[in-house]
Amino acid sequence: MNACIRAVVRTALYRDAEIYGIQQGFQGLVNGDFKLMNSRSVSNIIQLGGTVLKTARCEAFLHEEGRKLAYERLREEGIEGLVVIGGDGSFRGAEVFSRSFAIPVICVPGTIDNDLYGSDFTLGYDTATNTVIEAIDKIRDTAASHDRLFFIEVMGRDSGCIALNAGVAGGAEAILLPEKETAIDDLCKNLLRGVKGKKSSTIVIVAEGDANGGAYEVAKKVQDRIPLYDTKVTILGHMQRGGSPSSFDRVLATRLGYAACNLLLDGHNRMVVGLRANQIKSTDLEDSLNHHAFKLSDDLLEIATVMAI
Ligand code: F6P
Repeated sequence: MNACIRAVVRTALYRDAEIYGIQQGFQGLVNGDFKLMNSRSVSNIIQLGGTVLKTARCEAFLHEEGRKLAYERLREEGIEGLVVIGGDGSFRGAEVFSRSFAIPVICVPGTIDNDLYGSDFTLGYDTATNTVIEAIDKIRDTAASHDRLFFIEVMGRDSGCIALNAGVAGGAEAILLPEKETAIDDLCKNLLRGVKGKKSSTIVIVAEGDANGGAYEVAKKVQDRIPLYDTKVTILGHMQRGGSPSSFDRVLATRLGYAACNLLLDGHNRMVVGLRANQIKSTDLEDSLNHHAFKLSDDLLEIATVMAI
């Protein structure tokens, strides 16, 4: 987020536009919490996780009255366009707002879930996946030393992107995904094959949206069927949402922030900027919201199974 904020601010200044940071997302719009930015306002933030502008869930913005207030605040300040960085909820808010009021909006996909249509990758996803791999590697040390079975739960809401990619990169023995149902009996068969094959450690990645009900639930069901394991559960939680961004995320954020600001200044409206096949492309905001973003490649699903033998 910070790398993107920096890119938007500096692109605007480069083009001699005035630029304001809105504190706490839509809440700041409603409250009129605007901060005039200069180039130094965004110095030394490219390496920081989180967002220096802060963010918030905003109840008022869900209602027309709140959105009207936000529009009036923008008018009072003379603000003529918005760049919104966020996930599905932010995009939906931006869509309703720009449909009702004469304020052009350009959206930048920012979520660790990688679940938005219009970009192969969303901001934060690469960093979160790297954090998960680091955790898997560390947990693997204990798993291998003690011959243990670990269930590691990762974030992603309804998307299995983090789970699948971190699972393959971390050499997981099984990966449970929201997009693909796994029967516990099949999982047990795989695990027993590993025992027969003398595997010294076993790691099962469970995406938080998996239909079996989370890592504790899966661990319990497996233990009830095959009690021969010393089993542990780790929920990685919010550590996946923080930390210094990867080089990939910093460059992507800079490219998308630059593109979003230029689109806005060139008179575009209701677009999502994204990276597709390594090219910066824009997608109509409504189209993006109307499409389900399925980003699990079939070959990777197959490869994950083959690599686990
Ligand atoms: O959408 C991003 C995400 O990190 C999901 O992966 C996760 O389910 C959720 O947000 C956590 O949100 P909160 O911090 O509000 O619990």
